[in-house]
Amino acid sequence: MKKVAVFGMGYVGCVTAACLSQDGHSVIGVDVDTDKVAEVNAGKAPISERGLDDLLGTQVASGRLRATSDSAAAVAASDVAMIAVGTPSAEDGSVTVHILEGVIAEIGRALRANPKPYHVVIRSTLLPGLLETRMKEVLLSALGRDSLNDVVLCNNPEFLREGSALKDYYHPPYVLVGTDNQADAAPIVALYEKVEAEKFVTDSRTAALVKYACNAFHAVKVTFANEIGAVAKAMGADGHEVMRLVSEDTKLNISKAYMRPGFAFGGSCLPKDLRAISRFAEHEALRLNMLSSVLSSNESQLKRALKMVRDNGQKKVGLVGLSFKNGTDDLRESPMVEMVETLTGWGYSIKIYDPNVTLSRLRGRNLGYIDRHLPHLAQMLVTETEDLLDHAEVLLLCTDVANDHDWHTRHDGKLFDFRMDLARPESVERAVKETREATPLVAA
Ligand SMILES: NC(=O)c1ccc[n+]([C@@H]2O[C@H](COP(=O)([O-])OP(=O)(O)OC[C@H]3O[C@@H](n4cnc5c(N)ncnc54)[C@H](O)[C@@H]3O)[C@@H](O)[C@H]2O)c1
Repeated sequence: MKKVAVFGMGYVGCVTAACLSQDGHSVIGVDVDTDKVAEVNAGKAPISERGLDDLLGTQVASGRLRATSDSAAAVAASDVAMIAVGTPSAEDGSVTVHILEGVIAEIGRALRANPKPYHVVIRSTLLPGLLETRMKEVLLSALGRDSLNDVVLCNNPEFLREGSALKDYYHPPYVLVGTDNQADAAPIVALYEKVEAEKFVTDSRTAALVKYACNAFHAVKVTFANEIGAVAKAMGADGHEVMRLVSEDTKLNISKAYMRPGFAFGGSCLPKDLRAISRFAEHEALRLNMLSSVLSSNESQLKRALKMVRDNGQKKVGLVGLSFKNGTDDLRESPMVEMVETLTGWGYSIKIYDPNVTLSRLRGRNLGYIDRHLPHLAQMLVTETEDLLDHAEVLLLCTDVANDHDWHTRHDGKLFDFRMDLARPESVERAVKETREATPLVAA
């Protein structure tokens, strides 16, 4: 059993406090709103959420849950603070963090007056980086120390949905704790012993971004379904049936497929079919903002890769994987073909290794595409990996053709594995200083 102070008796805080209490922990809810405090103490939910009134009533009656506006008293009576205050958007979209900072400062001051080991857990949604910099500084300054020592600052994003919050609390997609130290996470993970879900511990920046990525993904799903619905209406198809059948595909659609950051997509189908849908939308005066921006987003991914190669400076390039994916010799709209085309135009000397691609076997549109885009492909293709390595100052791994060889050990120069991740090009890193200053992330 743990002693927990939950800061913020709103949608997240109230549910968290009531459920932690139900699971046997001793909980104090803290809120600046004295009406909310009085309601909780009277066993009533200050927010409307199915089942919460009953649960709060039972928990307050059991003596395990109470509320206060006295944050110092709450810290004194607890060993963990879960902070669930609001982080709303300002007019310009930046995150408002002053409420969170205020709470962290109060906790820090209380611990300074009565030092003890303590966990400060941010449950509010907060952009990655703010906990590790700003929030940590606020806490250190309030504690009056240079180092946190036995005070742990970590995060534990919340995934519940209003309307089914109690059910979601006990059956979340997973419990996520963000900290660099597994041992620090253990007491927080233990709070969720009765929650039926896998528990993950990761670093705090990743944990914070998982929450934003999940919400962005949900928004993208809704928008995707709506845009397909709009197209369906205009085409005389049944949008609900289309999306039902799209969702039935749990191999490629509702699955982990295509869910890894990596290189741009290409091939003979995805770009062509996206173009056809966008063209149809224009024809029908339909605005498909999301679908019609996908190809330009894909193009940006390719440009990022090109910038990385250019920033690196070395002009002798070895490229592994030319067709749009491993296992095919289809070169149509392969982003690697576009990459080679651009780099050649910039004066780079390129050798390409892709055992899927044999020039003499290319036919029809595939051959026509290569004749138009890479007429000198024959001089670039090598069949032996040694020839590629002998030539390359910089090596680009582009498709899973690269899986068959240990390029990292065999090449002692610069290597970019575009299948894994695209780093931030150095030129962009240098250029963003002004943008950062002009676009603060946090509301003033
Ligand atoms: N609402 C959701 O469904 C949901 C789900 C997951 C995550 N989140 C995130 O959780 C956080 C909280 O969201 P919410 O919807 O519960 O917010 P909310 O606005 O409902 O509740 C915030 C509470 O904090 C209180 N508060 C303000 N200043 C305080 C202070 N100094 N000390 C103590 N309490 C103080 C407010 O009075 C209010 O009761 C946000 O970051 C949000 O993005 C929300």
